[in-house]
Amino acid sequence: MNIKKKFRVILPVGVLALAAVAWAGSPQILQPAGPGPSTASFTAINKVFTGDWQQYGQLFTSWQGGLFNRIFLLVLTIVPVVFLLHYIIIGAKSFSHAGTPIKFFGILTRFLHWLAALSFSLLVITGLMVVFGKFIGGGPLVMSGRSIHLIAAIVFCLSAAGLFLIWLKDMLPMPHDILWLLIMGGYLSKKKKPVPAGKFNAGQKVWFWLATVGGGIMAWSGYTLYSFAAPVDQIRQMAILHNLLAAGLIAFFIIHLYMSLFAVKGAISSMLTGYKSREEVAILHSRYKI
Ligand code: HEM
Repeated sequence: MNIKKKFRVILPVGVLALAAVAWAGSPQILQPAGPGPSTASFTAINKVFTGDWQQYGQLFTSWQGGLFNRIFLLVLTIVPVVFLLHYIIIGAKSFSHAGTPIKFFGILTRFLHWLAALSFSLLVITGLMVVFGKFIGGGPLVMSGRSIHLIAAIVFCLSAAGLFLIWLKDMLPMPHDILWLLIMGGYLSKKKKPVPAGKFNAGQKVWFWLATVGGGIMAWSGYTLYSFAAPVDQIRQMAILHNLLAAGLIAFFIIHLYMSLFAVKGAISSMLTGYKSREEVAILHSRYKI
């Protein structure tokens, strides 16, 4: 768009915005700005549009430098400790491999899953490199981490979108999911009693929605941060969203790793071969219709 065209769009939008603010009775804009334009009058008008961004900026800077780091550190220590305790006190569930195994994951699902797993792991590692950049010396190491973060984000978006389409139907909430949540999927007991779950249980569904829809929000906020094409307030809001959602996603990612690598013996082989044992399906996915 050339300058003239831009001006033709900006002028009416600006007039309309000013009229709207005046109509809303904003005291700052209706007050006379003094004999001529001064820094104070510009600051007063600016605040009407952007809020008190300087104060908000101070809050943001202090969060960025301290609070977010602490939240990430808490997630990286507390979540593994809780699940380590679970492993020590309750232990893994193991199932017999007697009988013909049941087909659970097709080849495309497994391919997309491992692509998502690889790219997401890279996103977590490189994202944390940026968060803790100061402690690892900053410089080219962190900058290359940032570039890998961008490439991994693109690969993750494509693979997660594929998984979203493949799994959507099986991941829709069902009434029995409430029962599963109430008994915590039977994971607080050593007994092997059938739990209410279809192809996926409520816990797996929560991870699915977080990883796909949450992943989409991460991509959108991340893109805004990367392109820097938004007003400063919006960039800050996106940074806060990106950081807090990342902390939540990392917490659930650690849980997903624990469940699939330690809590259920042999779970990893189902994502490699596509098959699950009959006993595992009968107990952990008792409502799954083969
Ligand atoms: C290195 C990282 C990962 C490992 C080792 C891993 C492992 C596994 C395994 C073994 C399963 C089958 C579990 C079962 O049905 O018993 C599984 C399922 C699944 N994975 Fe992953 N995964 C990883 C990363 C991811 C990522 C990044 C996503 C995000 C899209 C993801 C999404 C899912 C979903 C939605 C399922 C089906 C539901 C569930 O079992 O939670 N995984 N994963």
